[in-house]
This record gives sequence, structure tokens and C-alpha cells, in this order.
Amino acid sequence: MEYILAPSILAADFTKLGEEIKGTEEQGAKFLHFDVMDGMFVPSISFGIPVLQSIRPATQQVLDAHLMIEEPIRYVEEFAKAGADYITVHLEACSDVKATLQKIRDLHVKVGISIKPNTPVSALEAYLPMVDMVLIMSVEPGFGGQKFMESSLGKIRELRNIISEHQYKIDIQVDGGIKVDNVEKVLDAGANIIVAGSAVFNEDVAGSTKKFMEIIGRYE
Ligand code: DX5
Ligand code: ZN
Repeated sequence: MEYILAPSILAADFTKLGEEIKGTEEQGAKFLHFDVMDGMFVPSISFGIPVLQSIRPATQQVLDAHLMIEEPIRYVEEFAKAGADYITVHLEACSDVKATLQKIRDLHVKVGISIKPNTPVSALEAYLPMVDMVLIMSVEPGFGGQKFMESSLGKIRELRNIISEHQYKIDIQVDGGIKVDNVEKVLDAGANIIVAGSAVFNEDVAGSTKKFMEIIGRYE
């Protein structure tokens, strides 16, 4: 299993976005996480397709689109065309989850499904054969800089057990409130893709990425 850091650009300084992304890439962050918010599924609005499209040629990183939008099936094709490598949709946001996941698959993009803190892991089981990645939210989606919810750790363990039992090839991504000083317990619980926003995009982007990579590197 590969252990990966996915910096979330939601917390970046957009006046120096290219430079900050480079800082994460040079320190070994393999993914770049895009938090797309529509003001409906979550209270906030962030950014969308043109931002992902303009970053695509600027980095070799895997572009990981986390769609916090209602009925994402309406937009997955545009995100794929813009250059997304992974598209993650929320279980709670889809009226037809299977059709949404299948549409992403048909676009030859990696398929992710996410659950909010109050949605149980059992709600995912029917969809596991269709996905490459599950994203367990460790904060209520909508904003960066929130406190990590300890209740996500049990969900990560539960999901890792189900994945091992069925021998699925599914990555577990965790997102929200992850810092250098709590990332180990997330990894120990069974996650292998770590999203970090405010803990990476601060005054020292490269230095913060490096600190995460030193810890994550021990798990390879
Ligand atoms: C929350 C987003 C997260 C967030 C992470 O809705 O999905 O990706 O940007 O930010 P931090 O790491 O600051 O909690
Ligand atoms: Zn996210």
C-alpha cells in the first residue's frame, strides 16, 4: 500500500498559488486536493473547474477533486475534461449513487466516494466494489481549519477491516483537521492518503510538507 500526502489548496495563498503548489510537489506530496463547494451541499463556496484546469499543466501531481456539491453527476464530465485524476463525490449528495460512480468510471477517472462524520461506514458497503478510494471526513465538510473529530478513527478502522476482509483494492483518504501532531493516529487507524490544508499552507509550505512526509515516509 502506498502512503500519500494530499495538500488541500483551499488553505493556500491564491496570490502565490503556483509557487506554493511547487513547494508541496518538490517535497514529495504526490496528490493535490481540490475542495469544490457549491453553497448548497455545504454552506460555503470555494472554486471550481477553471482553477483545476489552469493548475493541470503546472504540476505532475495527481489532481484529486473532492466535490462537495449537490448532484455531482451534473459536473463530473467537466472535471474529467479539466484534468482531474480522481473525482470524489459525497454519498449524501447523490440521488443515484451508483449511476454517479459509474459515470466517473466511464470517464476513465479514478472513483472516490466520501461520507460526512454522521454517516456510518455501513452506508458505503454496497458501493465498495465500484470505487478506488473512500474519503472519510474527520470534520463537517465546508471549511478548512476545523478541529479533527476523534470519532473518525473508529470509522477508519472499521473500513480498513472490511477492505481487508474482501481484499478490495481501495485507498482510505482522511480529510479535516489533520496536523503533524495527529497524523500518526490517522495512519495507525488504517488511512493511507492524508489530506492537510491549513497545516501545509502556512508561512512555510515546503517545510510543513517536509514534516508530514517524514512521518508518512515511515509507513511506506
Ligand atoms: C473541508 C475540506 C478539507 C479542508 C481541510 O470541507 O474538505 O479538505 O480543506 O483543511 P484543514 O486541513 O485545514 O482541516
Ligand atoms: Zn477535502
